[in-house]
Amino acid sequence: MISVVILISGRGSNMASLLAAVDAGTLPVRIAAVLANRPDAGGLETAAARGVPTGVVDHRQFASREDFDTAMAAAIDAFAPELVVLAGFMRILGEAFVRHYDGRLINIHPSLLPTFPGLHTHRRALSEGVRIHGCTVHFVTPDLDHGPIIVQAAVPVLDGDDEDTLAARVLAHEHQVYALAVRWFAEGRLRVHAGRVVLDSPQSKCGALIAPQTFAG
Ligand code: GRF
Repeated sequence: MISVVILISGRGSNMASLLAAVDAGTLPVRIAAVLANRPDAGGLETAAARGVPTGVVDHRQFASREDFDTAMAAAIDAFAPELVVLAGFMRILGEAFVRHYDGRLINIHPSLLPTFPGLHTHRRALSEGVRIHGCTVHFVTPDLDHGPIIVQAAVPVLDGDDEDTLAARVLAHEHQVYALAVRWFAEGRLRVHAGRVVLDSPQSKCGALIAPQTFAG
């Protein structure tokens, strides 16, 4: 069973959904640790309550981004994980860090990349008037929010949505697709070829798009 380290910055609901999937027996990985860059990250308590080792590498204690990255990498590597999962981790990681974890560092982003990289994705989706929004799990590359896409969930934007209702609808799908992506990684089904993810999926040749029934609206 592969071992996984999860990095968080806040409430950690994506992390909690991964822990729940492990507990439910649907995600065959060992969560070795949950690490945060903020001591007040709410998800740390959730993880500790489930008996998962936790740690903090407080970015405010470091003079430079590189120094923080080096310390965070040391904290991660102490657990020798096969996979590092960014789950609401709100620090930009430098190129050396990203290269160190090449092919074993994944992120979830609350938009259908490549649209809306960066912050405030729900606000921007509403102000652009898109009818379909969603979330993306991708391998991390030095180019922010641009790595090879593993899976996406499409989520409708409904009349009357505000940032909160849209964020909540997307988040519910984040929780589904992240467990799926981590499971595929753990099962060795993901290959990156020419910058694109090829999913070796005997059950399905349709690729990695989750289009929920909520489209009936
Ligand atoms: C999620 O929407 C994630 O995609 C984004 O920040 C949010 C974190 O939520 N990067 P949580 O901490 O997992 O609850």
